[in-house]
Amino acid sequence: MPYAKIIATGAFLPEKLVTNFDLEKFVDTTDEWIRTRTGIRERRISAPDEPSSVLAANALTDALDSIGMEKGELDYIIVATVTPDTMFPSTACWLQKHLHITHIPAVDVSAACSGFMYGLSMARAYIESGMYKTIAVIGVEELTKITNWEDRSTCVLFGDGAGAAILQATEDKEGGRILSNYLGADGRYGNLLMKEAEGTLHPATHETLDKGMHYITMEGQETFKHAVRVMKSASVEALKRAGLKEEDLDLVIPHQANIRIIDALANRLKVDYEKVQITIDRYANSSSATIPIALNEANRDGKIKSGDKILMVAFGGGLTWGSVVVRW
Ligand code: UT7
Repeated sequence: MPYAKIIATGAFLPEKLVTNFDLEKFVDTTDEWIRTRTGIRERRISAPDEPSSVLAANALTDALDSIGMEKGELDYIIVATVTPDTMFPSTACWLQKHLHITHIPAVDVSAACSGFMYGLSMARAYIESGMYKTIAVIGVEELTKITNWEDRSTCVLFGDGAGAAILQATEDKEGGRILSNYLGADGRYGNLLMKEAEGTLHPATHETLDKGMHYITMEGQETFKHAVRVMKSASVEALKRAGLKEEDLDLVIPHQANIRIIDALANRLKVDYEKVQITIDRYANSSSATIPIALNEANRDGKIKSGDKILMVAFGGGLTWGSVVVRW
C-alpha cells in the first residue's frame, strides 16, 4: 500500500504590510486592543490585481522550486479557499491557467479555515488508494477583499496569503508520511461565521450590497468557545489515530485565528510553547492559508528534522474542523 508523504512546502505573502497602527488611523481601534485580544501586530493585504489564484500559483511555484520539481510531474491540484477568484471556474483552474498546466484535474475545496486539513486528507486518500501519485494542496485566502472595513470586530483580524504542500506516494512505511487525519463538521452553527450573500440563498442585488451582506460576519465570542473545545478534541483524536501521545510531538501547527485560542490549546495539550509554530503576529488570520504558511516557515527555518512528529489542527466556519499528524 502506498503512503502519502509531504515532499515540499512553499508560501507566498503579498507585499503590502498593514500594521495595527495603520488601522488605528481609520478604524475605532488600538494596537493595544488588537495585540492583547488577538496576538496580531500586522497583516499582509493583496493588491487589487492579485486575486487568490495568483497567490496560490506563487506558493505552488515556491514549493516546486524548493525541490527542483517540474510542474509536469503533478497529477492533481487541490486548492482550499473560501475567497475564490470567481464563483466558477474554480481558483484551481485559474491557477492552472497562470502556470500553463493542462489536463490534470484541479478542484477547489470549501471548508473555510479547515480547508487545508480537508485538502491534505483528500490528497492522502487519493494517494493511499493508488489513484494518483503526486498531488499539490494549496491553502489560499484573501479575506481582506470580503472584509467590511467599517466593522472593527472583524476587520482587524484578517490577512491574505497562500501556502502549498506537495504530497507524493511512498512505499516506506517507517519513513516520512501522513500518519493520521481526522475531519468533522457541524452545520447547525453555520451562521456564526459566514458571508451571507452572492450565493443562491441571496444572489447579489442592490439590497444585498446596501445591507453589506457581501461581507464576512462573525459572532466572535461564540466562535471562540467552539474553537477552544474543538481544537483540543480534534488534536486528541488525530493523535489517537496515529498511535501517539501529546509528549511525542515535536511541533504543533495550529490554525492562527487568535493567540488566546493557541495558548489554550498548548495548555490543554500540555505541549511546550517552543514547540508551537506562531505566525499570527505577522500575518493575522488568513483562514485556510495559515497552516501551510506556518508549516513552510518551520520547514524553511530548519525547525523540522527527519522523523519529527507534527500535529496540524484547524477550526473554522461551517463549523468545520480537522487535524493531521505527519512524521517528517
Ligand atoms: O478562523 C476561524 C475561527 N475564528 C475564530 O476562532 C475567532 C474567534 N473569536 C475571537 O478570536 C474573539 O472573539 C475576537 C478577537 C473576535 C473578539 O475578542 P473578544 O475578547 O471576544 O471581544 P468581544 O467581541 O467580547 O468584545 C469586547 C469589547 C467590546 O466592547 P464592550 O462591549 O465591552 O464595550 C467590543 O465592542 O471589545 C470591543 N471591540 C473592540 N475594541 C477595540 C471589538 N473589536 C474591537 C476592536 N478594537 N477592533
